[in-house]
Amino acid sequence: MFEKVLETTQYLENRVTNRPKIAIILGSGLGGLVDYVENKVVIPYKEIPNFPVSTVAGHAGELVFGTINGVEVLVMKGRFHYYEGYNMKQVTYPQYVFKQFGIETMIVSNAAGGANKTFKPGTLMIINDHINFFGTSPLIGSNDERFGPRFPDMSETYNKELIEKAKEVAGKLDIEYREGVYLGSSGPAYETAAEVTMMMRMGADAVGMSTVPESIVANYLGIKILGISCITNMATGIATKPHSHEEVVEIANQTGEKFCKWIAETVKEL
Ligand code: HPA
Repeated sequence: MFEKVLETTQYLENRVTNRPKIAIILGSGLGGLVDYVENKVVIPYKEIPNFPVSTVAGHAGELVFGTINGVEVLVMKGRFHYYEGYNMKQVTYPQYVFKQFGIETMIVSNAAGGANKTFKPGTLMIINDHINFFGTSPLIGSNDERFGPRFPDMSETYNKELIEKAKEVAGKLDIEYREGVYLGSSGPAYETAAEVTMMMRMGADAVGMSTVPESIVANYLGIKILGISCITNMATGIATKPHSHEEVVEIANQTGEKFCKWIAETVKEL
């Protein structure tokens, strides 16, 4: 895998002169951040050697290089979900490439259901910790010490300094936010009401189908992480009507502007 990652990294280094230290992963409905990127260089995933190939038509992702407020960034528009059938190594392949490329900070975002009853749809939540409910880990298998340790510490997966900076920026911009624990599970079915009750009792504030694998690997690689969830709906049992993906995307889109302003300002402070 190490050689594959090097090959991918070298391809990107040959294609762009950009050398960002910040990568941003955009969750469902949060793709609008790409409009904030200047001097864009867009590379579809399908052109990138060894990148997982999307099998779902019309779901092709792309890497976007450029600057936000003058700061170089690498934006991932579209991620690989476990529920799509990718294995965990594929889901987290971009993080290995980030590291080789020189990325030091990863801002990861997602759309999530609110398990904390005091949240409302449209809430932005800073992720201060996570619960891995995927039933597996992206680090299972033989370990290559060139990437990271066999038994990585997870005591500060979401960087406290980054969290403080994000809070400062939110204060300056008058952006309301909450803070809490993100629980990730495979999906693709939404949770049952009984499962949400269990997840709440376990300490989850938000539930979703991504982020946890990427954060485990980024942390293992020594990349600092800032995570933001966009609460698009109340989780099952708290919500008063059935979920729909359309609603998730619609609410994320509506919240997108607040999210984009926050991220655009935060990258200046990193
Ligand atoms: N559950 C899981 N994932 C989600 C949800 C949810 O309620 N909303 C958006 N992504």
